[in-house]
Amino acid sequence: MHLVIISGATRPQPMSNTAKIIAAFQKGFEENGNTTEVWYLSDRRQWQEAARAFEQNSHILIALPLYVENIPGILLEFLTGLKTKETSGTKLAFLLQGGFPEASQSRCCEAYLETLPVQLGCDYAGTLIKGDMFGIGLVDEKSRKKMLAPFTEMGRVFGETGCFTKADVDAFAAPEYMPAKQIRMYNWVGKRISRFFMGHIARKMGCTDQLDAKPYENSLVHS
Ligand SMILES: Cc1cc2nc3c(=O)[nH]c(=O)nc-3n(C[C@H](O)[C@H](O)[C@H](O)COP(=O)(O)O)c2cc1C
Repeated sequence: MHLVIISGATRPQPMSNTAKIIAAFQKGFEENGNTTEVWYLSDRRQWQEAARAFEQNSHILIALPLYVENIPGILLEFLTGLKTKETSGTKLAFLLQGGFPEASQSRCCEAYLETLPVQLGCDYAGTLIKGDMFGIGLVDEKSRKKMLAPFTEMGRVFGETGCFTKADVDAFAAPEYMPAKQIRMYNWVGKRISRFFMGHIARKMGCTDQLDAKPYENSLVHS
């Protein structure tokens, strides 16, 4: 099977978590002689070739980060420019990853993605969902490999079946909601640890203020 993978991430490939996930997925998918080609919409020079690949191939995977509970704007713009396929038989699947850990965050976007294949003249081949992916680019190599290994396994499965089944997706996406006990623990201890690490990351990125600073607060009061 030859699979066209289109990344709908806005961040350039070297910075993108989606790109890292795609690479892990490709590894598993290609193990049994399958092949892939990947197009990154963050680079507008690739759009024309990506659209051509979409038109000419019958196995398509669109990988994307969750943005404000739905798809990134550049992906929407790209999809709007695609022609609906007139011949049947193209399978269109999605790989959706987000920053928050609960799969429930992604269900609104999943429902939207389910509507796309029919509009594009394709058959729906499922949506793989995974949260808690914000840190992939920030953790050390060993932790990154651990986070990415399940995507390699799902690549293997997709290489055999050509689709994501609902049962596999739900097991892979868990937890749907964080258990109440874990939320209590987070509010008690985890929040302080995350705040410390987020502050550290922000300082490394050049942030000199507090993360909860409200620089426009006074101007709103006086205007
Ligand atoms: C503008 C913006 C909006 C986001 N909205 C969500 C969201 O609604 N839910 C969520 O779980 N993650 C959200 N995230 C987190 C990203 O989905 C997550 O960090 C992802 O791994 C980024 O992938 P990328 O590096 O390929 O862009 C958002 C990130 C950005 C920058």
